Amino acid sequence: MEKSSDLVLIVDDNATNIDLLVNTLKDYYRLGVAKNGEKALEYVSKQKPDIILLDIMMPGMNGFEVCKKLKSQDEYKNIPIIFITAVDDTTRKMEGFRLGAVDYITKPFLGEEVRERVRTHLSLKSMREQLADRNVNLEQMVKEKTLELERMLEATISVTTLLTEIRDPYTAGHQHRVAKLAVAIATSMKLSADKIKAVDLAGTLHDIGKIRIPTAVLNRPGKLLESEREFLKIHPEIGYKLLKTIPFPYPVAEIVLQHHERMDGSGYPKGLKGDQIMLEARILAVADVTEAQSSYRPYRPALGIDVALADLFSNKGKLYDPKAVDACIQLFKSGQFSFDEDKQKQDHGHIE
Ligand SMILES: [Fe+2]
Ligand SMILES: [Fe+2]
Repeated sequence: MEKSSDLVLIVDDNATNIDLLVNTLKDYYRLGVAKNGEKALEYVSKQKPDIILLDIMMPGMNGFEVCKKLKSQDEYKNIPIIFITAVDDTTRKMEGFRLGAVDYITKPFLGEEVRERVRTHLSLKSMREQLADRNVNLEQMVKEKTLELERMLEATISVTTLLTEIRDPYTAGHQHRVAKLAVAIATSMKLSADKIKAVDLAGTLHDIGKIRIPTAVLNRPGKLLESEREFLKIHPEIGYKLLKTIPFPYPVAEIVLQHHERMDGSGYPKGLKGDQIMLEARILAVADVTEAQSSYRPYRPALGIDVALADLFSNKGKLYDPKAVDACIQLFKSGQFSFDEDKQKQDHGHIE
């Protein structure tokens, strides 16, 4: 056996025992010696040994106390401890194991046996450390992969929204701004992080179903015909059908399906009322009408945020969730939220 770089600490008050152990191990390991409990602790704090051979009966602090102290400290608790005792006393042995020792050697000992036990426990320790390292690596890999997937999902979503918006330039940026406002409302209403993420995704994609509406209808100036308005109403269901095939960790498709439902049952497609509509969809509805009303549409000029908020307020509880309305108005009135910055960016995008 080649000499290992592992450091073995021998703790014993008896010089003969120390000599015996040193002679047994010196050709195989680096050795440290401490003649009592206090010195042992001092040694450990200076050079962390890989294993400790610990005598039980010592003047002052005994071996059990040393063991207890080491096991209570995170930095040292994983150092394997082998107790050494003069008597083959089962009660003592059990006490040692209970305190966290890995093994026992009874005096008088055979050099061969001591070496084998030390070797076994050192290799167990190194295996434990390798496993722990591997776990840390695996956790890191899972984290990186998850991040990569999230990035891919985000990229896919932005391509999808771009595709919708290329066909429908007047609502370009609409989904993005709706998502931002919906997230701000959901945050101020203290929804859970998961629900806020769901509101964000659903907001970003909520009008994706318009991909089925002819561009001539979407972009035609002037008021829509009744038949065209009716046709437009299929977009939440188309969006639902498109999105339900994606295994989102949140109910994104359902929220999109419900974004035109209204509190009094006057919405579509199902005419759901009040609590039958998911809270996330009620929030999205408030963000959607606020953004849509405050900005330009081919069939009317931009009405501005004040008109949008006044309309929201007058339909609070009737069409729109009262808490979401309050949160939305508060966000604008307090200056915590505005569409301005986004719109500037959007306009810029158009010029380019
Ligand atoms: Fe919509
Ligand atoms: Fe919308």
